[in-house]
Amino acid sequence: MNKLTIFDTTLRDGEQSPGASMTKEEKVRIAKMLERMRVDVIEAGFPIASSGDFEAVRAVARAVKDSVVCGLARATDEDIDRAGEALKDAVACRVHTFIATSPIHMKMKLRMEPDQVLERAVEAVRRARRWTDDVEFSAEDAGRSELDFLCRITEAVIEAGARTINIPDTVGYNVPEQFAHTIRSLIERVPNADKAVFSVHCHNDLGLAVANSLAAVLAGARQVECTINGLGERAGNASLEEIVMAVRTRRDIFQLETNIDTTQIVPASRLVANITGFPVQPNKAIVGANAFAHEAGIHQDGVLKHRETYEIMRAEDVGWIKNRMVLGKHSGRNAFRARLEELGVSFASEEDLNAAFARFKDLADKKHEIYDEDLQALVTDANLTAENERVKLRYLRVCSETGEMPNAQVTLAVDGVEQKATATGGGPVDASFKAIESLLQTGTDLLLYSVNNITSGTDSQGEVTVRVSKDGRIVNGQGADTDIVIASAKAYINALNKVLQPSERAHPQLL
Ligand code: KIV
Ligand code: ZN
Repeated sequence: MNKLTIFDTTLRDGEQSPGASMTKEEKVRIAKMLERMRVDVIEAGFPIASSGDFEAVRAVARAVKDSVVCGLARATDEDIDRAGEALKDAVACRVHTFIATSPIHMKMKLRMEPDQVLERAVEAVRRARRWTDDVEFSAEDAGRSELDFLCRITEAVIEAGARTINIPDTVGYNVPEQFAHTIRSLIERVPNADKAVFSVHCHNDLGLAVANSLAAVLAGARQVECTINGLGERAGNASLEEIVMAVRTRRDIFQLETNIDTTQIVPASRLVANITGFPVQPNKAIVGANAFAHEAGIHQDGVLKHRETYEIMRAEDVGWIKNRMVLGKHSGRNAFRARLEELGVSFASEEDLNAAFARFKDLADKKHEIYDEDLQALVTDANLTAENERVKLRYLRVCSETGEMPNAQVTLAVDGVEQKATATGGGPVDASFKAIESLLQTGTDLLLYSVNNITSGTDSQGEVTVRVSKDGRIVNGQGADTDIVIASAKAYINALNKVLQPSERAHPQLL
């Protein structure tokens, strides 16, 4: 019992953040990264949500060999069978089924009596056991559930075959002492508690997700559900990097080990930020750009004399190494393919490889040293301009000079037909966006526009994220280029392409 299981739900709960939805290829890339990091369980998605998510979970199940791949299902036969079907090719799989147990959810959402909920939970676990021995049951909104009922349902689902009992603080309402008390009481009071692992899943609405999870670990929980960068519904989930580094740095308190290769934390954080378009705030613990930067002179002096005066962790232990140049102008196709395979990217055909290699050569002409981050951005950018996109950027010319209003000329291919427009704007990006919108007439609102450099130096690629909304639906778009105006236009078109596609995805917690 001195092992803490790390269950990552970036691909499922993380994906429930507005605008963070991922394609099948993106999910596989993140899953391969999580596998490299030695995450124990990867929750790959909610297979009943859409045919796209079913295929994504199936692809992750096929691609990952060393971690357990998990799929979420509500407590219905249809959901569970869909999850089982998506997972059936995995080396090791888990079906995760859940139903709400708090009075407010049972009465107002499910319109069911507690005994009916208990019966449904038991049936769901039995159904899931037809697919795998590794079944997890979650009592949704456990943080606001009555302890006696939680004990009763926990005992019943363990009896029915659940091996992991997850106690979510779904709405982020608990405080550490209270949450620890719930976990301790369940472990003490449920007669067959020794037959299951107790897990926690905390949301961050009060900024307490990590504190609540760690308090629960001290009370006996042996699995934590978390996400890279704390991504997730509303204010997010407990962040994987904070949980793992707290347990490791304070071994004296927790006396537990995780399997995680912590040197993969920063690369994983970057990959998730890059794919979802949710940048990491600079002062974010562990993975923020300033997490190991010492500004104050007195701190710098102390660190130079003896690192531990101001540092409790080593930057290199979490993967903060200087960007490593991996490829350059003269690198060949094989070196390119090999490095991308190490990053979890494989090519469906020689044609795809050749197209990506051509883009790499273009980039290498503009930028002499190519880092892993550049390759990641190149692949993300290529996926963004994939075949099924309705709108493609063909040409962009922007004129920007002192004292003159910037002017943009754009040519787009919309459903294969070329269309041109010009527009002026407050700046070159504004002019480009106006020209694009004048052709597409989507009526979206721009919520966010941000530019980051992928590596350092003025020849670095700019990575642009835009967030737009239309009729309450929020989507993100990304683009990368050494020219940030072009990167901006690509990001905007990527977001508008998503707006132009119907969204068929169901939300797991709507029923
Ligand atoms: O927050 C929650 O309750 C969940 C469950 C589906 C585990 O995400
Ligand atoms: Zn959740």
